[in-house]
Amino acid sequence: MKSMLDTDAILIESWLSEAEDRSLANDVLDGLTRPFKELPPKHFYDTRGSELFERICEQPEYYPTRSERSILESRAAEIVEATGAGELVELGSGAADKARILLDAMSAAGMLQRYVPLDVSEVVVRDAAAQLVEEHPELRVHGVIGDFERHLDRVPAPIEGVPRIVAVLGGTVGNFPPGTRRRLLRAVGALLGPEDRLLLGTDLVKDPAVIEAAYDDAEGITAEFNRNLLHVINRELHADFTPEQFDHVAFFDRRHEWIEMRLRSQRPCSVLIGDLGLRVEFAAGEEMRTEISAKFTRARIEADYAAAGLALDRWFTDEHQLFALSLARRVFAP
Ligand code: AVJ
Repeated sequence: MKSMLDTDAILIESWLSEAEDRSLANDVLDGLTRPFKELPPKHFYDTRGSELFERICEQPEYYPTRSERSILESRAAEIVEATGAGELVELGSGAADKARILLDAMSAAGMLQRYVPLDVSEVVVRDAAAQLVEEHPELRVHGVIGDFERHLDRVPAPIEGVPRIVAVLGGTVGNFPPGTRRRLLRAVGALLGPEDRLLLGTDLVKDPAVIEAAYDDAEGITAEFNRNLLHVINRELHADFTPEQFDHVAFFDRRHEWIEMRLRSQRPCSVLIGDLGLRVEFAAGEEMRTEISAKFTRARIEADYAAAGLALDRWFTDEHQLFALSLARRVFAP
């Protein structure tokens, strides 16, 4: 049975296909045959990985989610007022619990029209959409199921005369190395008209001990999250990693101002990646990089914006200056 909500208020389009199934295989082939092994962090997030991430967010050491939420809660009305936005486009929306704060503020201001979540997980987007339209009868949701590195062109055209906020929250942008990050910001900027604004969440540089604790919680949830990548590869590519033989490593790289997560092989091992017909050797103590998560200063964000054809408009932080939300506009040549 088709629900009324499905036809009237919710439209969800998926752009993920077989090509996507190759993405992990390609990244494993590419990343595990390098002299310094490396895998991109996007493959952490299968069902279990997403659950583990949710649990990380509840750990006392992991401050980013709480800090960002507190900024949103205190500033959402101001952000909505400053932008006049009636539409929220969110790249990497997940369960939309941060978007909800903004959508509530847009609704309270009588401006809410549309939410466009872009995420890889269709179930998560559907559930969030169903809940949101129930809470806000005036809301339409147009979900885009895809990868925001490749499917930005699937974001629907803006509603005539309605300013939009394009949000990249959670510090996700920090997962990309600097050059890729600027390219991505430029691509996101291309979604902005003169009245539209980017809303970017970025974790800030601070005492390395605080950052390192956030990525190595006492409960060991982040360690499990890191090792989950090996479970994903075992299942999806018929590989035979023994995840328990890899130690979780997290350290702040002061020169690059990013935290790095690695998996360190406790002993020499030879891993077969069945689907690729590939054998990969690890030496004792060999490390594989699984994530970088950049920490920012305001100056660094402004430099990234400038390089991407954007300009900082507004800057918001929490009371402890742990995390920042910034509004940026696109710079149009005169
Ligand atoms: C979801 C990418 C923002 O970089 O802090 C949490 C992922 N990694 N703990 C981050 C993560 C380890 C997180 N982001």
